[in-house]
Amino acid sequence: MPGKNYRIAVIGGDGTGPEVVREAVKVADAAAAKFGFKLDKTNVDWGGERYLKTGQVLPPDALDVLRGFDAILLGAIGHPDVPPGVLEKGILLALRFGLDQYINLRPVKLYPGVDCPLKNKVPADIDFVVVRENTEGLYSGMGGSQYKGTPDEVATQIMCNTRHGVERCIRYAFELTRKRHGEKPWKGLQQADIDKGFRGQLHLVAKTNVLTFAHDLWWRAFNEVGAEYPEVKREYAHVDATCMWFVKNPEWFDVIVTCNMFGDIITDLGAMIQGGMGIAAGANVNPEGVSMFEPIGGSAPKYTGKNVINPLAAVCAGGMMLGQLGEHAAASAVEKAVMWTTLNKVRNLSAGKMGFGTAEVGDIVARAVADGRSPEA
Ligand code: IPM
Ligand code: MN
Repeated sequence: MPGKNYRIAVIGGDGTGPEVVREAVKVADAAAAKFGFKLDKTNVDWGGERYLKTGQVLPPDALDVLRGFDAILLGAIGHPDVPPGVLEKGILLALRFGLDQYINLRPVKLYPGVDCPLKNKVPADIDFVVVRENTEGLYSGMGGSQYKGTPDEVATQIMCNTRHGVERCIRYAFELTRKRHGEKPWKGLQQADIDKGFRGQLHLVAKTNVLTFAHDLWWRAFNEVGAEYPEVKREYAHVDATCMWFVKNPEWFDVIVTCNMFGDIITDLGAMIQGGMGIAAGANVNPEGVSMFEPIGGSAPKYTGKNVINPLAAVCAGGMMLGQLGEHAAASAVEKAVMWTTLNKVRNLSAGKMGFGTAEVGDIVARAVADGRSPEA
């Protein structure tokens, strides 16, 4: 049977986006060749340069165009000559919202060989996933200002939570936690927990002590949906305490579900404890539609065109894309090849300090995929 052919929209975007995405495609193609499927790529030029030339953030039919693809691979959005918010809202958030990618999935995993800024923490200690709500909360765009520019100025930005939006996100997180521990229970569980039937653990990260309307909704939805998942141990942590524990005891986390804004903030901290922006990948998922995969670092204008930026985050995003397409063996091969690379080749993940150029790192991982490398071999 001939392998499948997936249609992929590639949005290189701004700054170093196109450079890292090129390597992600290179590696994904190596995996496709090895596992017998094809990626049919279409490049689109949406981003800051196009906006500066045309005054348009997205073409009017952008969402319809993207709906015709199986997945989207995105480099970075953000341009130094464009005022803050224009491209972020006009492109990135417009796509997340417009395609109803209501989950932002961000694994925080310390790969072997990677220098971790936390003392005495090893890969076994840092391996969790953040499920960030991706279409509402403080990102809803609701609010406004009055008397702007005067001493009487009033500005509001509303944290809008809907039961529907919160519940579908929480349900996704419970499902994910269940799936993550299909074979053996999460290593952080005590024997007493395992005896109670627990296999995995899901933290709700919120601020129920202050956001007594919005996060009370989250709290009730979390417990009500959670009742359907008796194998998932429910935990709660305030967001401020979570920041402390990411640094002090990251091994306490298995899966986290949280609102849009808190998810944005804690996943930057998460990226740092897994070795930096050079390795942190994310997926904007619409489980019923088309999903978009991106490195979570920005467009890094100062490194643009220098062949020094680390493409591993984009490569990992490409790996997540293969998993979402259902090519699980290929996704796992990409992750293993990245782990082999961090263990044996690219020990320093910072731009300009990798010891290899951007394209060379892509070559190394693509070759590692072809050779079936994993950290053990
Ligand atoms: C991210 C980014 C975006 C966000 C910005 C660029 C709008 O920080 O993907 O985490 O806040 O979601
Ligand atoms: Mn962010």
